[in-house]
Amino acid sequence: MEILLNEIIDRNRHLIENGKVANYIPALAKADYRKIGVTVAGRTGSLLYSAGDYNEKFTLQSISKVISFLVAAMDNGLDHIFEKVGLDSTDEPFNAFTKLDLPNIHKPANPMINSGAILTTGMIKGDSQERFQKILELTRRMANNPYIGYDEEVYLSEKETGSRNRSMAYLMNSKGILDGDVEGVLDTYFKQCSIQVDTMDLAKIGRFISSGCEGIDIKGISRKDMSVMVKGLLFTCGMYNYSARYAIEVGIPSKSGVGGGIMGILPDGMGIGIFSPALDENGNSSAGIGIIKELSRRLHLNIFDDRKLQADLEAY
Ligand code: DON
Repeated sequence: MEILLNEIIDRNRHLIENGKVANYIPALAKADYRKIGVTVAGRTGSLLYSAGDYNEKFTLQSISKVISFLVAAMDNGLDHIFEKVGLDSTDEPFNAFTKLDLPNIHKPANPMINSGAILTTGMIKGDSQERFQKILELTRRMANNPYIGYDEEVYLSEKETGSRNRSMAYLMNSKGILDGDVEGVLDTYFKQCSIQVDTMDLAKIGRFISSGCEGIDIKGISRKDMSVMVKGLLFTCGMYNYSARYAIEVGIPSKSGVGGGIMGILPDGMGIGIFSPALDENGNSSAGIGIIKELSRRLHLNIFDDRKLQADLEAY
């Protein structure tokens, strides 16, 4: 399996030249665009297959939206969340919010775009620090890694330059969609984006969700159903305006972040973590997309591919 992963990294390395490291958050611009890491977390317990720069740390960015959504669901139940945020895929970039200003729109499209994520983060109970602590604790639990922390420099850089996120939060506040302490909610959001992981953590978080969200109690829904729901949410909304094409070409429920991470959640208890910080025009990792596309094709991981994984992963 490691041989296959190394081969796939090498075959897709040229794609970093098509991308650019995110620079709208100044601290992110420091990332080394040549780094590429991949981890696949196998179905059983501790199996991890890694290649490349799998030890390299990067920030979760939008991948944290999956975790804050789960914490908000634990605190409020799903029905309450979807009274406030939609469940519609979007053809807009992750930080768009012009539609939110239309008189007939009262909900962000879904919890995986910035406006929807800021709103769901605001639904987590507690003050800014308590909310962040809950998100961090759940991240650690899902990755089974108590050492996960956050990158203070990225957090401060996001906070300082987050005018777009601030604008959409205040727009939602003016329409009565987001109430309470807007700056506090933004502070949690900026901090959750700055949580630092490596590809092994991401793959394990993917495996945790895929294998049934053990220990996550949400009123009115079983853990297994929650796991199915999150996969559906990511399949339709996880890659922003690239989601439909990604669903067809890759076919794996996934979430990306502008730190260069992609987390894939396979249906049968497997997770994928990829890191490569050069991004394409949609804000998704350029080589990361190439790598997961090839992984999906070669291992028949597309959820609609019925040739799927006849052999055990160990055979590769
Ligand atoms: O809200 C932002 O601008 C970032 N902190 C997170 C955005 C992000 O990761 C979009 N993903 N591709």
